[in-house]
Amino acid sequence: MRFENFEVNKIKEPEKKEMPEKVARESGEQRERIEDVLDQAILKKYQKIDEGHNGVIGLVDLNDAETEYKDLAHHDQQLEDLDDDSLHQLFQERFGELAEDEDRLAIKMLKIFSTERAENELSAHSKVYDLLEQAKLDDEKSYASVPKLYFNRSVDLEAHPDLREKLGRDRVMVDKNVNVLAMDFLQGENLDYYLHKETLLAKGYGAEECEGKDYRWMQLQLSGLGVKGFSLATEEASKEDAQKINRNNLEAMARFLASEKKDLIATAIFDKVKNTLDLAHENGVFHRDLHERNLFLELAEDRRVNDVVIIDWGEAKILESLEAMSKSEIAQVVYDDGDGLRLSDEYIFKYDKLLNTQAKEIVDENEQLVQVARDFWSRAQEMIVKKENSGDKKKLAYDHMKEELAYLVENESDGERFLDNVDREFDYFASVLTPDDKEKLSLKTALWLEFVEDHQELIDYESLRDYLASKDLKLNYLKNDQDKFIKYLQQKIES
Ligand SMILES: Nc1ncnc2c1ncn2[C@@H]1O[C@H](COP(=O)(O)OP(=O)(O)OP(=O)(O)O)[C@@H](O)[C@H]1O
Ligand SMILES: [Mg+2]
Repeated sequence: MRFENFEVNKIKEPEKKEMPEKVARESGEQRERIEDVLDQAILKKYQKIDEGHNGVIGLVDLNDAETEYKDLAHHDQQLEDLDDDSLHQLFQERFGELAEDEDRLAIKMLKIFSTERAENELSAHSKVYDLLEQAKLDDEKSYASVPKLYFNRSVDLEAHPDLREKLGRDRVMVDKNVNVLAMDFLQGENLDYYLHKETLLAKGYGAEECEGKDYRWMQLQLSGLGVKGFSLATEEASKEDAQKINRNNLEAMARFLASEKKDLIATAIFDKVKNTLDLAHENGVFHRDLHERNLFLELAEDRRVNDVVIIDWGEAKILESLEAMSKSEIAQVVYDDGDGLRLSDEYIFKYDKLLNTQAKEIVDENEQLVQVARDFWSRAQEMIVKKENSGDKKKLAYDHMKEELAYLVENESDGERFLDNVDREFDYFASVLTPDDKEKLSLKTALWLEFVEDHQELIDYESLRDYLASKDLKLNYLKNDQDKFIKYLQQKIES
């Protein structure tokens, strides 16, 4: 394989370990040849796993790559005299301090060949990596990560027909030359993928059903599930339109998930991102492209978010810190969100707001609804109880309801229709008290809560939730309030 740019662009010169005496050290010429053979072996074992706008991400199994490399070396005239130990040593050197238990590697190839862009990505990315290494010495838990980088090479594909063909099969368009940036392989999902998948799971899809599915498949399923605000982009939509629709969908899914699940991605995770960006910004590095697919989530087995990685520093700029920046430099790191200028890196925090702050607002909303209901009922009670006049219609209805409920509790609490019958009593009473449907529902909310609190041996929050959820409300505009009440009960059950 020939290289346009033969420099081995090592990130950090790995420390050369003491070599055992019997192992022959390679000559200068051999060294070049080895790098060549290493590239060849690594690229031969590359398998596409993902793709962004600028790059293609591949996975390389290092055991396979090492076997391939040794095989190539043994059949290479220039390298014949190197034994397996030396070859292994040289292989290790390429990967610096690759973690002992890690035998996979991710490589990113830019679709449009540009050594300048690749080097820009490399230098911003590795600068942040180094800053984090330092910062984490004192305070490991407060920062996000960035993948560790191993090397960056420029490869001439004309001299490597295998890889070219493989890229063609994956329908990846790349130039005659590609940059190959090698880094840690991350396990998990980017935020975009995660939100799609979590929404499907919350809507009852099975984990196995969703396993390894692509965005289009997930979007097709989601379009039929009634997630408020979700819409399906047509196949013909322009790239920009599809992107806009996807952004709206992600927001819709985040809202939906916030109302369904608690602590999907804890604020602590976003705080790590914030600390990492602050550190980068203080040192003049601005990511400038921190959208949903560039935030990578490491997941526990139960899909809780364990940790977070900021990837794709391809659009990053190394400038001054904000205080020292000129106006034209500032213009490169901000955008106008309608209310004024914002750092573009702050875009991603909208998900903290959607998933956490607003989730709390939703909780408050549910509680507020119940509070209003209880207030309404206590005011009504005061009026009824104050009424000494036993002929009062409302007072009569109240006494009648109390009697009927006592009878039901005494005699029919085992019956299948017990909850239905209680509900009907509430209905009668509520209609005597007020003609307004919204007020009626509010009153019933308070009555149900009081009933559960007074009869815990007969009914709990869970059975009430299930009962209410199974009932079809005739008046659609009341559904929202009913849903809030059901969610309130859900919160009670969980807490
Ligand atoms: N080290 C890695 N390990 C595993 N998956 C990765 C890794 N790096 C990237 N990915 C996946 O590949 C996708 C594309 O990678 P990346 O963002 O670097 O490419 P890009 O083309 O520059 O993206 P963009 O479209 O944002 O410009 C990511 O969204 C992520 O899901
Ligand atoms: Mg990206």
